[in-house]
Amino acid sequence: MKPRIALVTGGIGGLGTEICRYLARSGHRVIAGDLGSRTDRVEQFRREVAEHSDTIHFESLNVADHAGCTADLARIEADHGPISVLVNAAGITRDTSLRKMSVQQWDDVITVNLSGVFNTCRAVVDGMTERGYGRIVNISSVNGQTGQFGQTNYSAAKAGMHGFTMALAREVARKGVTVNSVSPGYCETALVMAVPETVRNQIIANIPVGRLGKPSEIARVVDFLCAEESAFITGANIPVNGGYFMDF
Ligand code: CAA
Repeated sequence: MKPRIALVTGGIGGLGTEICRYLARSGHRVIAGDLGSRTDRVEQFRREVAEHSDTIHFESLNVADHAGCTADLARIEADHGPISVLVNAAGITRDTSLRKMSVQQWDDVITVNLSGVFNTCRAVVDGMTERGYGRIVNISSVNGQTGQFGQTNYSAAKAGMHGFTMALAREVARKGVTVNSVSPGYCETALVMAVPETVRNQIIANIPVGRLGKPSEIARVVDFLCAEESAFITGANIPVNGGYFMDF
């Protein structure tokens, strides 16, 4: 059987890179989609995944622009084949309290983190339902469940992803397509390292496991949801946060 094509948006990021590795190991042909303008990071990514150079490929993709994203995905499918697995891991932060937040900071985060998910899903969902198979995993955040000081934009986008996930899960449930979200807590990524050290240490002190998460601890859950055998899990949100937020 030909390997399934998995697209990971934000694929060269902290979580994205590790998700690419896991999906490659589980037999997918993986496309890491990210901004082509990040040339230094792209080169570093290629070195980091060199052992999977046959199965992990970088493609330029801007999820923030609807027309551009649609065109990018059409090109990727023409070059590599139909996308069966979509992991939406592209995300940015523009942290500041609401009283200081500019319209630009609001729009940037909503456009990439939430509209980006619409743009990618809109482009691939018809193909998935027509072929009767698909796995969509949206990378949300614990801060979409709890809210976070300085993140009205980010928390709104990440909470919005849950609603999107549940709604789309219902629409495609009978067509062999599952849609789930994973909500990472604070992990060892550049996004978290950008938080001022004193604030970060306070956050770590409140994580019951007592440390930041490793990207691999997120990636294995994503890979699990992307497996063919996970067909009965849909519309779910899986928290992976070291006990930082527990819900029933
Ligand atoms: N709770 C309560 N008060 C807080 C606070 C908090 N968490 N953080 C700051 N404050 C207080 C400050 O002590 C300060 O008080 P005073 O006015 O009395 O001096 C005041 O609030 C600062 O308010 P400002 O409006 O000036 O805040 P700011 O616009 O400078 O923003 C911040 C501060 C940049 C948001 C900073 O608090 C911060 O970086 N917080 C962490 C945000 C965070 O956790 N981001 C997560 C990034 S990682 C990620 O997003 C990945 C993931 O999914 C987990």
